[in-house]
Amino acid sequence: MSTEGGYPPGDGGLPVVGNTVELSRDILEFYEGLRNEYGRIASYRVFGTDACMVADPEAIRQILLEDHDAYEKGDVLTRSLGDAMGDGLFLSAGEQWHRQRTRMQPAFYRERLDTYVPAMRDTASQSLDDWHDEAVIEVNDAMTAMTIDVLGRTLFGVDVADEPVVTDASDAILARFDTNRFWSFLPDSVPTPTNRRYRREIERLREFVDGLADQRRRRPREERGDDLLSILVGFVESGDLTMSEFRDNLITFLFAGHETTALGLTYTVLCLARNPDEQERIRAEVDSVCDGSVTAADLPELEQTGRAIDEALRLYPPVYLFFRETARDVKLAGYRIPNGTTLVLSPWVVHRDSAWWDDPQTYRPDRFAGESDRPEYAYFPFGGGPRHCIGMRFARMEMKTVIASILRRYEFELVSDPDPELIASSNLKPAEDIEIRVSERASTTSN
Ligand code: HEM
Repeated sequence: MSTEGGYPPGDGGLPVVGNTVELSRDILEFYEGLRNEYGRIASYRVFGTDACMVADPEAIRQILLEDHDAYEKGDVLTRSLGDAMGDGLFLSAGEQWHRQRTRMQPAFYRERLDTYVPAMRDTASQSLDDWHDEAVIEVNDAMTAMTIDVLGRTLFGVDVADEPVVTDASDAILARFDTNRFWSFLPDSVPTPTNRRYRREIERLREFVDGLADQRRRRPREERGDDLLSILVGFVESGDLTMSEFRDNLITFLFAGHETTALGLTYTVLCLARNPDEQERIRAEVDSVCDGSVTAADLPELEQTGRAIDEALRLYPPVYLFFRETARDVKLAGYRIPNGTTLVLSPWVVHRDSAWWDDPQTYRPDRFAGESDRPEYAYFPFGGGPRHCIGMRFARMEMKTVIASILRRYEFELVSDPDPELIASSNLKPAEDIEIRVSERASTTSN
């Protein structure tokens, strides 16, 4: 169908609500169906909002990289999350975003991240002490507890495991941003139970992060360390960051950094439990690289472990879609898309497209070995361009450290459904428990 210069083809759905009902029924199926029927750039409508799905790697590259300033984060996101983190790195725009990104980047340099590895390893090790021979572990819960603990210890120097306010608020934010629920498309101001809970928890969280700032400020500068919290407190003191930006960033990092990584770990464990040969291969790599406990110096050498994680993120990208909005009329892959159109970029759809991936449903880490002629944006679990995930390296290091720590001590097999139902809500989550039975290995030390 030639639509050169026109609006992308699609199905506007019912009057008023558009495609909202189909979308909230099964969002993954909806986007795949749209691609199959109308192509990799296709239009639809949600409650009067014009939207386009973009599942073409070249168009994604154009949006995220080449013409990134023609696109904003947009209304869909600010409407759901602006209240909690509108002045933070994830949602801010223009000069405000650029200033913050430049200031925070040093907390994510490789040398800085290397110093976080002992905390990542110790957190994993403490959790693994609770596992025992023949124990059945619910993987998602175990990984969530680890990642929130790691985030608290490394970036904020606090033990968040003892602070239910953080997990409560995180749950409330994620529920608010739950695209699987019909009501999540309603404006923030509508007093649904989810919105009321969200407001209450955000207020509690703001008080908590103010307390963290006060505690840190009372410490003499030379004793503050240089974690993200100290960096941000320093910028507030020098007038480079407002208190509102400070709060919104703490909330941003808590929100963006733990569930995503926990899901990445959960899906990697699922894939390795389903593929015992790959599990064994990676265990052999870990045994040959790690002498004693996992260190920062080991991580670059854990190449096959990295591929096992990359391939799990291909099949199950925790951020299965993300949004942009056109800031002016744009031309994209020959189509004309007007200013103010919502664009949905979907790693889920692109990562499972047989045009770029041979036998896309199969878990095969070796896809990531050596050169490939795939387009760059056929794989984008961490986004791309200037707004790519600032925590990407952090997440990869944490995932490698945790997976290597598990493999050193345990073998595991899947006892739950090998092909679990998924819920595409704020992130792509398993709808049911993912359970493994672990057997302790005889020959390794306990850390
Ligand atoms: C497997 C784990 C993770 C995945 C899959 C993931 C995915 C993503 C994606 C796709 C984006 C881009 C969103 C967009 O362009 O609209 C993003 C941005 C972001 N992520 Fe992550 N992320 C992960 C872990 C983390 C961690 C550990 C942190 C913090 C320590 C973090 C903090 C952020 C922040 C602050 C942004 C906004 C960056 C900006 O706009 O400048 N993420 N992430």
